[in-house]
Amino acid sequence: MATSLVEPVITSRAPLGILPQVCKLCGTEQEAAPIAICDKCLGPLEPIYPKARTLPGREDIARRAPNLWRYREWLPFVGEPVYSRDTGFTPLIEAPRLAAHLGVGRVWIKNDAVSQPTLSFKDRVVTTAINAAHAFGLDTIGCASTGNLANAVAAHAARAGLKAWIFIPENLEQAKILGTAIYNPNLVRVKGHYDDVNRLCAQLADRFGWGIVNVNLRGYYGEGSKTMGFEIAEQLGWRLPTAVIAPMAGGSLLTKLRKAFKEFQSAELVSGPLPRLYGAQASGCAPIVRLVESGGAQIVPEIPNTIAKSIAIGNPADGPYAAKAIVESGGWGAKVSDEEIVAAIRLLAETTGVFTETAGGATVAGAVQLAREGKLTADDELVICITGNGLKTLDVVEGVLPESPIVEAKVRQVADLVKARG
Ligand SMILES: Cc1ncc(COP(=O)(O)O)c(C=O)c1O
Ligand SMILES: [Zn+2]
Repeated sequence: MATSLVEPVITSRAPLGILPQVCKLCGTEQEAAPIAICDKCLGPLEPIYPKARTLPGREDIARRAPNLWRYREWLPFVGEPVYSRDTGFTPLIEAPRLAAHLGVGRVWIKNDAVSQPTLSFKDRVVTTAINAAHAFGLDTIGCASTGNLANAVAAHAARAGLKAWIFIPENLEQAKILGTAIYNPNLVRVKGHYDDVNRLCAQLADRFGWGIVNVNLRGYYGEGSKTMGFEIAEQLGWRLPTAVIAPMAGGSLLTKLRKAFKEFQSAELVSGPLPRLYGAQASGCAPIVRLVESGGAQIVPEIPNTIAKSIAIGNPADGPYAAKAIVESGGWGAKVSDEEIVAAIRLLAETTGVFTETAGGATVAGAVQLAREGKLTADDELVICITGNGLKTLDVVEGVLPESPIVEAKVRQVADLVKARG
């Protein structure tokens, strides 16, 4: 963390090429531009990759620097990235004590709680979005955020020297607000929920010509999430787990994990069945899980009411795609109470030494629930995606943890404590 704001040496200032996009609904191709919605059918756009491009093998990738650009052939650029060349390649750590608790064969934690530089997986999506902004010649980036994205946009923009306009719901956690303000962006707190903020940002992007990373740069932003899936496959020794569980807010991460595993499978970097994907949400805001459960096609928007603010999106942009990815993979959804989230934050810390924020609590609580229901079993190799850091949501564990005794600096007082605790 000591070097978190030091931008690595930039070796090239050649113009960065960016790939065109295609509509996920009607297949219409669009020239590369800061737009995210098809002008024919309003479907979402995503980058389109040349069919006949040369892909690297396992050894080529293994020789590259340990950051997410080691998968650059699957990211939507041509040429050297300019900004944020250090993000990615977070640890994948085996968690045998948690596996034993869950009754699952083997468990790994994909630990984006230590993502560089802002301690959440949102560094990944901002990495691709800020390079897209550069390719389009934009000098201002922004976002509508539930907190972690705000931290990431502010930090990545600060070190790149770009202007930032960041919009958040007014009631976010203090650590998310201060952890954004410290980078000195234009930070605006909006009255209402995330969905109100998002609607506002859709209008602002057009009005001011900004690159709002999860609005008009969303097609390029989303591709950054794939790198979490690529890393899981490589770090497991070029193979796929049987199951992966991740938190869902807008639903982009879950959707892109499936895309990543499929892309590595078709590049023959991994073989065997694709993992079953499980998505976790708080029951106080679980529109994607409810869509999976109902088998419907459309999200029914919700008003969020949960401590898991980072994943409190009532009308998720990629919700139907996330639900489809889950069902196609043979997985399922899990919705968990706020109490279960806090208990799961503690369980993860006590069994793995990883301190996660509420989104990770929802994910681990989801794994507990799915294991109890027999959906995750002793035959499984499970990866749990921990996407954010517990130091950002300290308020939810305050008053829940045992009080620490205060003693005088005397051996006898400690001896009494040791005796009392057996
Ligand atoms: C910590 C954390 N995990 C997961 C997510 C969910 O990401 P997505 O919007 O891609 O579903 C978010 C989104 O804000 C987040 O902050
Ligand atoms: Zn279309």
